[in-house]
Amino acid sequence: MESIQAIKQRFGIIGNDPKLNRSIEKAIQVAPTDISVLVTGESGVGKESIPKIIHQISHRKHGKYIAVNCGAIPEGTIDSELFGHEKGAFTGATTTRSGYFEVADGGTIFLDEVGELPLTTQVRLLRVLENGEFIKVGSSKVQKTNVRIVAATNVNMFEAIKKEKFREDLYYRLSTIEINLPPLRARKDDIHLLFRKFASDFALKYKMPTVKLTDDAVNALENYRWNGNIRQLRNVAEQVSVLEQNRTIDNKTLQNYLPNIGSNLPAVVSNSKSESDFSSEREILYKVLFDMKGDLNDLKKLTMELMKKGSDADVQKDNEHLIQKIYGDADEKDEEFEAAVEDLEILAIPEHKETAEEIISEAADKYHFAEEIEEEETLSLHDKELELIKKSLERHSGKRKLAAAELGISERTLYRKIKQFDL
Ligand SMILES: Nc1ncnc2c1ncn2[C@@H]1O[C@H](COP(=O)(O)OP(=O)(O)O)[C@@H](O)[C@H]1O
Ligand SMILES: [Mg+2]
Repeated sequence: MESIQAIKQRFGIIGNDPKLNRSIEKAIQVAPTDISVLVTGESGVGKESIPKIIHQISHRKHGKYIAVNCGAIPEGTIDSELFGHEKGAFTGATTTRSGYFEVADGGTIFLDEVGELPLTTQVRLLRVLENGEFIKVGSSKVQKTNVRIVAATNVNMFEAIKKEKFREDLYYRLSTIEINLPPLRARKDDIHLLFRKFASDFALKYKMPTVKLTDDAVNALENYRWNGNIRQLRNVAEQVSVLEQNRTIDNKTLQNYLPNIGSNLPAVVSNSKSESDFSSEREILYKVLFDMKGDLNDLKKLTMELMKKGSDADVQKDNEHLIQKIYGDADEKDEEFEAAVEDLEILAIPEHKETAEEIISEAADKYHFAEEIEEEETLSLHDKELELIKKSLERHSGKRKLAAAELGISERTLYRKIKQFDL
């Protein structure tokens, strides 16, 4: 049996932390068996080296080792990726295809981010784990395989089980042995060691002298949170190595590379909100969603009013503020606003008793998807339609409002068509 030190050297694992050593020892002990292993730990702690160790020192080392990132495969194709499919199983399945479980027969499959597996795939996986059986997508033939599974996750599996996102029986089947890797902040003594190793690697790579840290910088490095763990430390070492002219790094310089954020994201996010109200793309998206939700609520309110009061013209007056809010500023009374208000008049006089859904979807069609509908209309507009528009305008002595009502389109659409076709 190889020693822990030899394994660390062979797999490029740096650190002397007792918890790290215990994890490697566990991997060495479990490797010769076929027991399933679940590797747990935060993102960036080095989970990916554990299944490699297990495979390489097991009797399966001459078999295939396949690493699958379950979180990166779309839900619709994951069953076919893992278990294969029959010809004609779904559109595009022109040939029969073997999945990873067939290809890796006699080897090891590493299921990274296993918590992301869809529930239906979890059922198939449980069956393979229990008796080595699986069925290709679109087939009825049961096949056998002999695969060792090592899975990894950075999510709290108990939480996932409680939320019914992960099957409890599968969890126990996968985690016969659990190997937990400690976060970097719990391995303070390894931090500087790792930094020196990375700094030396990058100095070699970029052909520059190795950066060195002052004592206060080392202290700061050791007491930082490292939410992104070793992956983040490696990035910081690379940035400092590439960007700093002065190869002795003090705490002040180092701080520029250590984002001071409370969230779990290791990303570099500026704290200043100088240019806009948003500090990130996510906030902008939230803002757009909130605005849309607000619009929808206003629209619902307006629709309810219309349903309650029917053709009462006062609805428009009573709800002027809402109408303005949804369709724009009354000061810039543009074509769009006028057309919208006009269409609202049409909506207010229902010919037949419509259900609330019908009214809402009609309103949504009219306003939110106006551009799309218009485009299609324009594309399919042929001479006959042009003739109709012309005639209608003549009949109403050029009065667009009346012509639009006759043609059953909004005034805005008519206005665009007139402009487009130079009528
Ligand atoms: N003990 C270690 N010594 C050296 N490099 C490490 C160590 N642990 C992790 N790394 C490096 O950190 C990065 C993240 O490791 P990875 O296994 O991908 O993390 P995880 O899968 O847990 O998110 C990789 O580049 C890996 O090589
Ligand atoms: Mg990973």
